[in-house]
Amino acid sequence: LSEEQLYRPNFHFTPKANWMNDPNGMFFYNGYYHLYFQYYPDGNVWGPMHWGHAISTDMVTWVEKPIALYPDEKGYIFSGSAVVDADNTSGFGKGGKIPTIAMFTYHNMDKEKNGDVNFQSQAIAYSLDEGLTWEKYADNPVIKNPNIKDFRDPKVVWDEVNEKWIMVLAAGQEIMFYSSKNLKDWELLSNFGENIGSHDGVWECPDLFAMQVEGTDEVKWVLIVSVGKGGYNMGSATQYFVGDFDGKNFTIDPDFKNELDTNNASWIDYGKDNYAGVTWSNIPDTDGRKLFIGWMSNWQYATKVPTEKWRSSMTVARELKLTKTNNKYQLKSVPVKEISNYISKTVKKNSINIEKGKQTLLTNKKLIDFKSLDIQFTIKNLKEDTYTFCFDNKSGDAIKFGLNNNEQFFFIDRMVSGNVSFSEEFAPKISKAPFTTTENELEVRLLLDKTSIEIFYNNGETVMTEIFFPKNPIEAFSVQSENFNIEIENLIINELNFN
Ligand code: FRU
Repeated sequence: LSEEQLYRPNFHFTPKANWMNDPNGMFFYNGYYHLYFQYYPDGNVWGPMHWGHAISTDMVTWVEKPIALYPDEKGYIFSGSAVVDADNTSGFGKGGKIPTIAMFTYHNMDKEKNGDVNFQSQAIAYSLDEGLTWEKYADNPVIKNPNIKDFRDPKVVWDEVNEKWIMVLAAGQEIMFYSSKNLKDWELLSNFGENIGSHDGVWECPDLFAMQVEGTDEVKWVLIVSVGKGGYNMGSATQYFVGDFDGKNFTIDPDFKNELDTNNASWIDYGKDNYAGVTWSNIPDTDGRKLFIGWMSNWQYATKVPTEKWRSSMTVARELKLTKTNNKYQLKSVPVKEISNYISKTVKKNSINIEKGKQTLLTNKKLIDFKSLDIQFTIKNLKEDTYTFCFDNKSGDAIKFGLNNNEQFFFIDRMVSGNVSFSEEFAPKISKAPFTTTENELEVRLLLDKTSIEIFYNNGETVMTEIFFPKNPIEAFSVQSENFNIEIENLIINELNFN
């Protein structure tokens, strides 16, 4: 099988060729979801950064467009965001055309080589053709570097309450909050991050947004911060904070502090492969969703994964939800509902009782093509046992996941999932996520797409995303318990088709 056949995902965005990292500048406008991305068009490892571009009508299938932003004498184009400036606050709109404004970081290599610390600054560009082509602002940078070495990844949001633009920026291991009336002149409001969160690496790619707590009238602010090192399973990962923003300062909610783990952090995804994710801007109120996408890789090994033609893909787009149960705030994520438009076949079982030991649930011979699957089920009457689900193939490669309910953790085990030797940090051990519940059942939803698995437990309360590189296509799905039979209800296996 060719690299394309074996490894190119069916429904996770990958560039046709060459290197990609963070999602950038996502906005929705006139029926299209825009996705820009850190892109190096001349090689399959990180290099001088551009913004690549793709569009979609449903965040599931993507069409790649021409490169949107090229590096210039001021620097490489690092991560950033974009907003639709419907009221033309920036004045870039002409002839009644609504401008879209992108804000990004210039990374100046010459200054960096010189040993200067002020090599990153913030700049803007505008588009009058719905994000296809961009004009950089002549007076860039709009925020000069105040002598902070890591000073990047501006995310602009519209603050409805205070009627101004707010921008969050990663600065060293803190977040800086700015505001502006016109997207050109920016004023520093406050800093956040001392003594809270994971500080094992540099902070990157923040996002800030208000969310209604599900089922209540309460509105809370969520601050997302990616951290280059120090994820729950090592490497890069994305943490979040729940609190309040008064137009100037972000403060953590006291009820959220209880939820921090031993790293002093809460993670949006406990798997190793969801980084630098942020949300779409300009989603209409009639939709109202908070929509998120992440880069499905990890800086530990992203440049070494065994694909040649392109490197890395995005996660599935996800809807975020904020909940409060037992006095605890949690940011949940689930795949966007649009994915169900691609279901081509379904196998359903209302209730099954499975003997302990390894039991096959489904093989390739049964109707279903394993290339892209959306599976859900509920495990009833959880016992003190280990539940291991496994996808495998004829070469014996196996990607395993499940729940160790003796020691109370979820896991993904990709140690024998195929090619794992390209990096010692790819699969040194199983990845874990804490499991705490008072219920004795567990809901599981997962997406499988040739080289990735995304698992959403209890409606997205705990999420684990990981990639893998089997030597042959996956062709069987099995389950195993050690000491007790497994009771499974409402097993739904959906085959997805994108042709
Ligand atoms: C995150 C990151 C950003 C930066 C970009 C450079 O993965 O390091 O902080 O803007 O990648 O490509």
